[in-house]
Amino acid sequence: MSILHKTALAGGLAVLLCSSALAQGLSGKVVGFSQIGSESGWRAAETSVTKAEAERLGIDLKFADAQQKQENQIKAIRGFIAQGVDAILVAPVVATGWEEVLTEAKEASIPVVLLDRGIEAPEDLYLTSVASDQVKEGRVAGEWLVGAVGDKECKVVELQGTVGSSPAINRKQGFEEGIAGAANVSIIRSQTGDFTRSKGKEVMEGFIKAEGGGAGICAVYSHNDDMAVGAIQAIKDAGLKPGTDILVVSIDAVPDIFAAMVAGEANATVELTPNMAGPAFAALDAYLNGGTVPEKFIITESKLYTPADDPQGEYDRRKGLGY
Ligand code: AHR
Repeated sequence: MSILHKTALAGGLAVLLCSSALAQGLSGKVVGFSQIGSESGWRAAETSVTKAEAERLGIDLKFADAQQKQENQIKAIRGFIAQGVDAILVAPVVATGWEEVLTEAKEASIPVVLLDRGIEAPEDLYLTSVASDQVKEGRVAGEWLVGAVGDKECKVVELQGTVGSSPAINRKQGFEEGIAGAANVSIIRSQTGDFTRSKGKEVMEGFIKAEGGGAGICAVYSHNDDMAVGAIQAIKDAGLKPGTDILVVSIDAVPDIFAAMVAGEANATVELTPNMAGPAFAALDAYLNGGTVPEKFIITESKLYTPADDPQGEYDRRKGLGY
């Protein structure tokens, strides 16, 4: 049930306030969006969806690409505050270091919505956070692997996301929880690939070299699909078969991982919707127009996909969506 629907159920007065809020919408509102950058296909899709949603709703979206740097995000947020925007969206590159700038936004009475990543800061510094349950994503990936290998010994190499980012921290924790009950499954190497395809390939090449050509590696767990696609290339370059000699499990569900599944080179992915803006704008609409304070954490779904789930169809459904 959406936030607006829940609000409408709260009582007669709320229903009246809510309907007038819905009638007003966000048309003409100015919203600043501090995006991390364009490190992955998923990130590109989130940017496209956010811009398209803003256009559909008549929002004047001020977009700032931080090129993976927190200092650029802080500068952009300060710029939005100086312009007097109606609201700010932030996809925070790392989890710490936000208190000062978010306090400035709060003092200027500008609501801030976090997109796709969490932060370590007092909750009153942001209106709401729209993100997946990243620990669950890792757990789903780990549980899938445990089921896939059965009793066989399985040595796993892990490609972590950006150091200090909430998905890197939480997806690591979740996967460890997912394999905790299986003594035959263990992580033997773990390193950051910074969520990019090129670093995923480079780090996987290092893992294969360090593990005697890769023969002892049973699976690669990657914190996103782009690094997994890079790892798949590294496995092929080493003369091994991704998806068979080395299992590949990752997170995002971008078109390229479904193409890899069709080719038999990837085994599982956990979906992360790129549509964080839909729930974010709905929450802002209710808040700015009706004073309704949304839930603090709006959690998106985390669905597992394997080659049994029509990967060609999934590829076709997603390929035009900005990935
Ligand atoms: O925060 C979400 C993560 O950021 C995505 O899983 C990854 O692809 C992106 O870089």
